[in-house]
Amino acid sequence: MLDIGVLVSGRGSNLQAIIDGIEAGKIDARIKVVISDNPNAYALERCKRHSIPSRVVRREEFKSKREFEEEMVRILKEEGVELVVLAGFMRILSPHFLENFPNRVINIHPSLIPAFQGLNAQRRAVEFGSKITGCSVHIVDESVDGGPVVVQAAVPVLPEDTEETLSERILRFEHRILPQTVQWFAEGRVRIEGRRVLVEGARYGTLPVNPELEKF
Ligand code: GRF
Repeated sequence: MLDIGVLVSGRGSNLQAIIDGIEAGKIDARIKVVISDNPNAYALERCKRHSIPSRVVRREEFKSKREFEEEMVRILKEEGVELVVLAGFMRILSPHFLENFPNRVINIHPSLIPAFQGLNAQRRAVEFGSKITGCSVHIVDESVDGGPVVVQAAVPVLPEDTEETLSERILRFEHRILPQTVQWFAEGRVRIEGRRVLVEGARYGTLPVNPELEKF
């Protein structure tokens, strides 16, 4: 049984996907604590409904980023957290935080990184005219959404897409790849060698093409 901590800032639909996976018996993990930096995050409601311990740690309550992060580390360590999951957590963690959980912090990002790292990834994919975007689960390092990739899902961009419709289509895959990654960690199948991550025993397939090819 893997003890995890989840960091959130908002809606918490990815948190919900993990909760659902655990309740359905598909993930051998326990959420020991959810930490939100935002007292109004809807994610906190989800915790209440599922009797999951949650804490609010606001950046404003601390003199420095370092002290803010130290408080989160203290809580996570106190709870014996072995894997930290960033699920819509809207802050960049410093190396100081990360060295407490080496290769054990993961994040979900709504693009095929390294494309569209940072904020508003879905809007930028629409504006850029990308034909395929998607979502990534990666190991968190000092870069912004640039750490070693565990899994990616490709999602087509349709001609009529808006930021909202594309975000919704990507989100459906976020809710699959993030819980799956947590389970891969729970099973001890994630091997990280530098930038390359291998999920032992996983099947690796081929990329879809969008728009569909006709004569070739
Ligand atoms: C998701 O799109 C995630 O990829 C990004 O922030 C959003 C969080 O959504 N990092 P939710 O709070 O999980 O609903």
